[in-house]
Amino acid sequence: MLKTMNAEPVPSPATILCVVGARPNFMKIAPVMAALAACPGLRGYLVHTGQHYDVAMSAGFFAELGIPEPDENLEVGSGSHAQQTAEVMRRFEPVLDRVRPAAVLVVGDVNSTIACALVAVKKGIAVAHVEAGLRSWNRAMPEEINRVLTDQISDFLFTTEQGALPNLLREGIAAERVHFVGNVMIDTLRANLARATPPRQSLIEAGAAPGLAEDPRGYQVLTLHRPSNVDDRAVLSGLLTTVRDISARCPVVFTVHPRTRARIAEFGLDRLLGGPDIAVIPPQGYLAMLGLMAGARAVLTDSGGIQEETTALGVPCFTLREDTERPITIEEGTNTLVGPAPAAILAAFDRLLATGGKTGRIPALWDGRAAERIAGVLAGAFVHPD
Ligand code: UD1
Repeated sequence: MLKTMNAEPVPSPATILCVVGARPNFMKIAPVMAALAACPGLRGYLVHTGQHYDVAMSAGFFAELGIPEPDENLEVGSGSHAQQTAEVMRRFEPVLDRVRPAAVLVVGDVNSTIACALVAVKKGIAVAHVEAGLRSWNRAMPEEINRVLTDQISDFLFTTEQGALPNLLREGIAAERVHFVGNVMIDTLRANLARATPPRQSLIEAGAAPGLAEDPRGYQVLTLHRPSNVDDRAVLSGLLTTVRDISARCPVVFTVHPRTRARIAEFGLDRLLGGPDIAVIPPQGYLAMLGLMAGARAVLTDSGGIQEETTALGVPCFTLREDTERPITIEEGTNTLVGPAPAAILAAFDRLLATGGKTGRIPALWDGRAAERIAGVLAGAFVHPD
C-alpha cells in the first residue's frame, strides 16, 4: 500500500513533485508536466535543483519547451559528486516537509535524480523513476551508480524499452513495480520536430559559416562531455585529431559542452579545432539541436539521450563509448557502438560513406504518448473515486 508522509491519506488533487536538475532532464519532464496538468486529480509541482544553471544549459529549455517555471529552484550549482549530491539532499528535504507530495518523480540518471529519490524514500514518500532499468554494466560511470540505486528505492519504475525489465528483475525488483510506458524524450521530439530550427539559422546565430549546413558532402554533428572522453588529455586529443581528419571528407558541427570547453583550453587542444570544415559552436537549445541532428548525415556522440533521438530521427549515430545503457538503439535503431579509439572511428566513418549507415526502425511505444501513460499509472495509484 502506498502512503504519503506519516501515512496520511493522499489529499486531492494528489501532488506529484517532479524533479529536474541537468540539461537532459528538461526534455523528459516537459511532457510529464503537461500530462499531469491534463489529468484530473493530479497536480504537478516542479523543483529545479540548479545542478545546471547556465542559460544555454537550463533556462533556455524551459522557454522553448513551454515547461512551467519551476515552483522552486534549489540553486545547487557545480561541485564534486559528493558535494553536489549532498547539497541537493540538504536543500530538498525542507521542500518535501513543506509540500508533502503524494509522490516524488525523478527522471534519468543525474546526481539530482538519486539525491531527491533518496531523501523522499527515507521520508516514506513514494518515488517514481522515469527511464528505469537502463544498464551500461559499467560502474565506473557515475550515471550507472545513480541508475542502480534510484531503481532500488523506487515504487514506480517507468521503462523506455522492454530490455529494462529483465535488468530490474535480476536486481530483485518486483515486476509489479515496473511499467513499460515508452520514452518521454521521444514524446518531446515528436511534438517539436516540425518547429525545429533550420541548421543554417543555428549556424548563423552561433557565428559560424552557414554554408556548412548545405555542404554537398552533408555534415556531421559531434557532442562530447563524458569524463572518460574529455578529462583525459590523450583520449580527448585522439578524438579531436580523428574528427579533424574526417571533417575534410564530411564537415563537422561540434556543439561544445562547458566541461569539454574547459578541458580543451586546459590541455591546449584548441589548435585541433581550426579550419573551414569544423564549426565549433556553444551548447545549443533544444530546437536548434533537433534541427542540426535531423539534417545531419551522421551524429557522433557520447550522450545517452542523443542515441535515442537519432534512432527516432532515423539518422545514423556513432556512440563514442565502450558501452551503452540503451541497447535497443543498436538492436532496432540507428546506433553503432564505436568507442573512442581513432581507428574504430575511422572505420565506422568509411562504412558510413560506403553504405549510407544504419536506417533502423522506431522501437515499441516510442509513439509520443509515454507521459500520458505515466500520468495514467499515477492516477490509478493516487486518485480515488469519491
Ligand atoms: C551532467 C550529468 C550527466 C549528463 C550531463 C549533461 C551527473 C553525474 N552527470 O554531467 O549525466 O549527461 O550533465 O550535460 O549528474 N557547467 C557549467 N554550466 C552549467 C553546468 C555545468 O559551466 O550550467 C560546468 C561546470 O564547470 C561543471 C561542469 O560543467 O563543473 C560539469 O557539470 P556537472 O553537472 O558536474 O556534470 P556534467 O558533466 O554536465
